[in-house]
Amino acid sequence: MPVRPDRTRPETLHDLSLSVHGGKALDSTLALRTPLVMANSYQLPDDPSEISWSATAPGLYTRNTGVNQAALEAKLAAMEGGENAVALASGVAALHAVFFSHVRLGDHVIVSDVTYEATWRLWTELLPQRYGIEATFVDVTDLDAVRRAMREETKLVCVEAIANPTTKVADIRALAEIAHAAGALLMVDSTFTPPPLYRPLADGADLVVHSLTKYINGHGDAMGGAVVGPHDLIQPIKADAMVDVGGVISPFNAWQIQRGSVTLPLRLRQHLASAQAVAELLDSDERVAFVEYPGLPSHPGHAVATRQFGGRGYGGMLAFAVDGDPDTQNRFVANLRLITSGFSLGHDDSLVVHTGTVGPRVATYPEPFRRLGHLRLSVGIEDTDDLLADLAQALDATFC
Ligand SMILES: Cc1ncc(COP(=O)(O)O)c(C=O)c1O
Repeated sequence: MPVRPDRTRPETLHDLSLSVHGGKALDSTLALRTPLVMANSYQLPDDPSEISWSATAPGLYTRNTGVNQAALEAKLAAMEGGENAVALASGVAALHAVFFSHVRLGDHVIVSDVTYEATWRLWTELLPQRYGIEATFVDVTDLDAVRRAMREETKLVCVEAIANPTTKVADIRALAEIAHAAGALLMVDSTFTPPPLYRPLADGADLVVHSLTKYINGHGDAMGGAVVGPHDLIQPIKADAMVDVGGVISPFNAWQIQRGSVTLPLRLRQHLASAQAVAELLDSDERVAFVEYPGLPSHPGHAVATRQFGGRGYGGMLAFAVDGDPDTQNRFVANLRLITSGFSLGHDDSLVVHTGTVGPRVATYPEPFRRLGHLRLSVGIEDTDDLLADLAQALDATFC
């Protein structure tokens, strides 16, 4: 018998319904949308002396949790299939919150050799130098290398499901097995692969991190971050990193991101379809030096991505370079008329950014990235034909 959809039971809902109703609960106003509550403080009982100022309970103070933050967290937990979630001020605040709450002096972590800039800097400089936590960077597609790097004191393995910027694909199920066999947690930054494209918890990840700034908000007008996982791993993050370090999300951003997330599965359909078409166009053009996109059969992670993402798609991000030096990459970007040069990703508008050839992080990228630089392209939800036409005319203008 088909399951009867019930908006109060996320497990009965398909993805489009889940993104509309997941985590929704009416308050005493019975408003059908969570009202925006900007108050930073709540009325206490006459004798509040028993209340802990570090509690993560509602009705106290917005750094201990707020109406809009809690509503967003309930929704994110429902969308990721997790027990609990914590929403914070940015994706980086969420990453730091995991590290701060779950690793200690003397611990060791394993980090993917391709990872977002702030994760890279946190683990190459800040946390080892200031807190004495050692990190080993490993090519996480080499599972034997990951096994060899595990130590008795390894507490955490940090990867991105599709890595920023090279699009390296991590096999989450295999990495979870390796981490768990050594008693470590697996944290997956799934910013490039939001639900319903992928749900890492179902493959054994312990904690999922998102920059909500990106696909989940989707409109380029709010910053936020989140960690999703079981109660026993999320609660310490709320108690330590949220309340006492203080990277709490603003109520307005939480409200805005909750609204943006309603259309996530719809938007993703367009991102994924256009990214595949864009990757194929660029890959077939001899003026393009290389294209890295997991949806191309030539991508080293194609088989893992096909299995892991269940044929739903391969993300909206690609890395490529036109045939020429870094100046040629810049000229190509200057010739784009629809796609905009900008840092962020996962927005409705397509954004491209040229990353040069210098810096310690670049040294770990494949050879053509180091020689030519690369263009990180976040394929937006504009019309696919318009995007293809813009890229084609920019190639013509650059190589005329
Ligand atoms: C994979 C990944 N993780 C984390 C972040 C950090 O997110 P935020 O900019 O919201 O702090 C980014 C930002 O680009 C990212 O790409």
